[in-house]
Amino acid sequence: MKITVVGSGYVGLVTGTCLAEVGNHVLCLDVDPAKIATLQQGGIPIYEPGLDDMVRRNVEAGRLSFTTDIPAAVAFGEVQFIAVGTPPDEDGSADLQYVLAAARNIGLYMSEPKVVVDKSTVPVGTADKVKAQIAATLAERGADIAYSVVSNPEFLKEGAAIEDFMKPDRIVVGAEDERAIELMRRLYAPFQRNHDRILFMDVRSAELTKYAANAMLATRISFMNELANLAEDLGADIELVRRGIGSDPRIGYHFLYPGAGYGGSCFPKDVKALVASGREQGHAMRVLTAVEEANEAQKRRLVDKLVKRFGEDLRGHHFALWGLAFKPNTDDMREASSRVIIAELIRRGATVAAYDPVAADEARRVMGDLPGLRFADDMMAALHGADALLVVTEWKMFRAPDFDAIKASLKHPVILDGRNMYDPAWLRELGFDYQAIGR
Ligand code: UDX
Repeated sequence: MKITVVGSGYVGLVTGTCLAEVGNHVLCLDVDPAKIATLQQGGIPIYEPGLDDMVRRNVEAGRLSFTTDIPAAVAFGEVQFIAVGTPPDEDGSADLQYVLAAARNIGLYMSEPKVVVDKSTVPVGTADKVKAQIAATLAERGADIAYSVVSNPEFLKEGAAIEDFMKPDRIVVGAEDERAIELMRRLYAPFQRNHDRILFMDVRSAELTKYAANAMLATRISFMNELANLAEDLGADIELVRRGIGSDPRIGYHFLYPGAGYGGSCFPKDVKALVASGREQGHAMRVLTAVEEANEAQKRRLVDKLVKRFGEDLRGHHFALWGLAFKPNTDDMREASSRVIIAELIRRGATVAAYDPVAADEARRVMGDLPGLRFADDMMAALHGADALLVVTEWKMFRAPDFDAIKASLKHPVILDGRNMYDPAWLRELGFDYQAIGR
């Protein structure tokens, strides 16, 4: 099949590359010439394990290419994926300007029937807007060409996106006409494994499914964070409670880890957007509003603990911080808890030495030059002379550090662990003042 992917960001690039991997011919479009130039030269603008090799392999095989040429991109694919950004507007609702611009371009330049697939995470009703935008643009041209608009949300986890695309739990397709349904069935046949994983449904239900999934997961996390905070006061251990409830199959073990708050490009944005959608419909969305509030507070949890230990005024104090990315195996700094923590420490007059195995460059780019923030070249170098160590992202390399060396480098043997990486009893035995989340 010939496929165009509009938007060569995270989702677009993974989608396009995986579709090429199974034999399709894919052309990825982006308005950013620098990004396209990087891709054409074999570079990858994002960090995602396995993606660089897969891009290279498919470019070399002639199945994957990149362009900034909009008319050529529209002409190329019988399927046109829209995978552009939907950043939050000021009121939290998703900003659809890029999605609608992509729809307009399709309407402007198409000369034969197309199936347009919304891959971007968009509020319910967007497919109708895309449809209307294409209709209006075709009408301007006086053209009458058939097209359908399909909703096909992605469920990719950063750091595992290739695996998630190649071996999906489910493929959600909202489509209402037979031609589009047939085409989507063919397109996803190579990803089915053993049994049928495509769930066909109406377009609006597909659009809502994406938000529902992310909002449910975010809710679990905020709920666990709140329970963890309570467990601390009650003298219970949230890790034991987690196992105790996770063994109930109705609850399950996944996504029950308390921590320093959820971040990333999806949960914060999607929770806000669903709250905004609710508001538009006259629903208060009380649960989700609380989920978001609890998460904002949770991002400050480690600072609250530091303040209890060292006082409100942190001038003259220096802290080491391990982990900048919003989660391991990515360089993504969007809505990362580390940003809130660093900003708050610096606001209180402290200095910070931060280490992350992958995200330091990205952190420098998004946070700019913060006076008081320094990036260390290795995890142990970050510790030197610090009053305490804060662990914010659970990179594997932080799992079994040399605690004697840590103790020797720190001014005080204090570890504040935002991801429950270590055994509290053992660390206390080693002489640390060790504080985790909910233990
Ligand atoms: C998420 C969804 O998992 C994915 O299906 C969707 O398509 C996009 O959003 P992603 O943002 O890559 O993926 O990250 P994910 O691994 O889900 O983690 C999100 C955040 O939740 C991270 O900050 C993580 O640290 C936090 N988290 C996750 C917890 O605090 N506790 C948990 O138990 C799980």
